[in-house]
Amino acid sequence: MKTSIYATLAAITLALPAAAQGAGDPAKGEKEFRKCKACHMIQAPDGTDVVKGGKTGPNLYGVVGRKAGTEEGFKYSDALIKLGEAGEVWTTEDLEHYITNPNKYVEEKVGDKSLKTKMTFKLAKNQADVVAFLAQHSPEAVPADTAPAPADAASGDAAAAAPTAEAPAAN
Ligand code: HEC
Repeated sequence: MKTSIYATLAAITLALPAAAQGAGDPAKGEKEFRKCKACHMIQAPDGTDVVKGGKTGPNLYGVVGRKAGTEEGFKYSDALIKLGEAGEVWTTEDLEHYITNPNKYVEEKVGDKSLKTKMTFKLAKNQADVVAFLAQHSPEAVPADTAPAPADAASGDAAAAAPTAEAPAAN
């Protein structure tokens, strides 16, 4: 049923140009994440395990809205570091492309064929579901209708300078 995969992908891409968020089904994505967890955990900063997983790849908690290749303590390939340096901040849309073919994605973004990622896995279908699941566990990935008001961050220089991975301003 290869054609239906491509048809689905095409439909996703065409139907949701701007609002990639919400495209996938996070519940399905949670099941699909079984394919990822051999290498990736999803663990909140307070140590709560959303999904227990391996350490071959970086912790994917908060990956939506995070700069590529910047999870603390993980030793990334040059490919992912270059990708981050090129300005990649993971969006749901970009993640769907990345997990479909990591090396191709980096090559296209950075323009260097010699760069190889350490992620040897490619997800051929249900990318949007997995990414929707990741977005659910990404505090930085604010849904469009509650997009952060710039006023929040403007309340003080300290807030603006604080590392973004941690607490949203609203505690
Ligand atoms: C065989 C192990 C393996 C599997 C399976 C795997 N990954 Fe990865 N993944 C990695 C490694 C290793 C890296 C780091 C890549 C690098 O440094 O080049 C990575 C990097 C990533 C990144 C970039 C994170 C960042 O901090 O920039 C994302 C996103 C990601 N993987 C998502 C997934 C998803 C979603 C799945 C399941 C569909 C998956 N991976 C399956 C090993 C894996």
